[in-house]
Amino acid sequence: MCGIIGYVGSNDSVPFLLQGLQKLEYRGYDSAGVAICTDNGLNVIKKKGRLENLVQEIECLNLPKSNLGIGHTRWATHGSPGDENSHPQLSDSKNIAVVHNGIIENYIVLKEFLIKKGKKFTSDTDTEVIAQLIDYMYNGNIFSSVINAVNKLEGSFALGIICRSDPGKIIAVKKDSPLIIGCGENENYIASDIPAVLSKTNRVYRLKECEIAVITQESIKLYDFEGSGLDFSFETVDLDSSCAEKNGYEHFMLKEIMEQPDVIKKTVFPRIKENQVVFENFDLPKEYFEKLKKIYIVACGSAYHVGCSGKYVIEKLTGIPVEVDLASEFRYRSPIVDNNTLVITISQSGETADTLAALREAKKYNAKVLSIVNVAGSPIANESDYVFYTQAGPEIAVATTKAYSAQLCLIYLLALYLSKILAKIDEQGYINYLSDIILIPEKIKEIFEGIKNIRSLAQDFFRISDAFFIGRNLDYAACMEGSLKLKEISYVHSESYAAGELKHGTISLIEDNTLVIAVATQSSLIDKIVSNIREVKARGAKVIAITTHANFYKISEVSDHVIPIPKLSDIFMASLSVIPLQLFSYCLALLRECDIDKPRNLAKSVTVE
Ligand code: G6P
Repeated sequence: MCGIIGYVGSNDSVPFLLQGLQKLEYRGYDSAGVAICTDNGLNVIKKKGRLENLVQEIECLNLPKSNLGIGHTRWATHGSPGDENSHPQLSDSKNIAVVHNGIIENYIVLKEFLIKKGKKFTSDTDTEVIAQLIDYMYNGNIFSSVINAVNKLEGSFALGIICRSDPGKIIAVKKDSPLIIGCGENENYIASDIPAVLSKTNRVYRLKECEIAVITQESIKLYDFEGSGLDFSFETVDLDSSCAEKNGYEHFMLKEIMEQPDVIKKTVFPRIKENQVVFENFDLPKEYFEKLKKIYIVACGSAYHVGCSGKYVIEKLTGIPVEVDLASEFRYRSPIVDNNTLVITISQSGETADTLAALREAKKYNAKVLSIVNVAGSPIANESDYVFYTQAGPEIAVATTKAYSAQLCLIYLLALYLSKILAKIDEQGYINYLSDIILIPEKIKEIFEGIKNIRSLAQDFFRISDAFFIGRNLDYAACMEGSLKLKEISYVHSESYAAGELKHGTISLIEDNTLVIAVATQSSLIDKIVSNIREVKARGAKVIAITTHANFYKISEVSDHVIPIPKLSDIFMASLSVIPLQLFSYCLALLRECDIDKPRNLAKSVTVE
């Protein structure tokens, strides 16, 4: 939620700030702004709406060159998304400018205190409190004033701070929200995420919890919240700036859908050695797994849907009961967890606030936490006992696709790994499943060949206002994801239902021409879903079914349209059935002229509760 960028160096800061904000816009796009330090003081330019509004505004202004600046792209939490609530926020003396990602929980108390001390507020934001507090505590040295102020703040905050009367430096602060420092030639940077600095450098430092950095053109110094100096070193990241470009695709979402075969290969293949699943740095002994009473999978959004599929796969292969919970629920419901429970958190960003809080909750009960994460060095990765990284690369479209697919494959590998340790599978079964996992990338490519058919179905249905997704067991889990994709990016109301449950209520919503998408890949349940399709057809529904080539005729007898997909073992079919669901949502949203990569009201990285 919210993206931060900052520049200090020998060049003009504004071009860098704007290109960095463009890379961070996935974090929120309600408004954007920059503050630059010039001889005339701090200049703040901010605009409601997309970054392009800010770019246009800046083009019309004849801004003086400035070697120091900070910028922000916002997902509104405190106050409406208007200009006045946009960041950077200035103190009333106009001496301090702040950009912030996170939430200040005690801002009301601090605001009341500062108002009593004569500070005049102009916004509804919690961030303005930070600027005013630093200003109130200002003692001629911005660094020590920031230290004093942050020790009074409660909540989560990544901050970029500049000061008119102590120029030439950015103060960067991190607590519970991500922030990195980039080290350049004669210039240095801060950003919420690495792709924002990659056009300049791949030498970065990811700030750790409760660290403060003082960044000038020539130097970067690191401190804790007491002001004691800390040692650190830069890492060289193996990414180039093209990884966050569309590379000829109309949207990041389509590019990321198409990247799935490669991403799965990168995630899966290095973990298969001599026909065995191998996880580096996962050294829990056999006895631990033998005593395991339960596995909890905890996540949000699409990552939660991975957990819903994972439950079927892990239970089938290991016999261990798996409970799947939304992180926002788990964290507040005193879950029954102990040291015989393995808690798996799944998160693309590694910074989702609810998932992070759920992880901390699990650790209170001495459970081991294994996390499946895409972003290295993210808070969830840092705080977990074990981490399996997906190799999805930066995912920019707000609606996840490639990270989801990579997470799912890691769950398969984990399930197989556990089944072997627990002797729940014979050698041939193990090899067969492993061979199937290896085939997933090629099978996905086969589905891509049918994109024309999917596009023409989207053409037939793009004016719908409702859609229902039905499936059983693993197909139901895939439906949840398909339904979420559709509503996220096309704004079509959609719901997913366990097909057998329809008749207990939802079937009353089916009328002439209601779109029902049926996922039918589970061999033992084909006849059951055929009956469910008949039930909705009898009430006037139009049915698009996704099924394997083998069941094509059976399903096409009862459906209006069929999207055939290749076959794998039933337990891995969600990896294939989700592809046409992603593509259908994409094509439909395109025809509805939606802002596919940045759907309204959403943000990719959700660092608030
Ligand atoms: C947001 C994104 C979803 C994502 C969810 C969880 O809602 O739009 O695509 O599934 O957050 O995010 P995480 O980073 O924890 O996977």
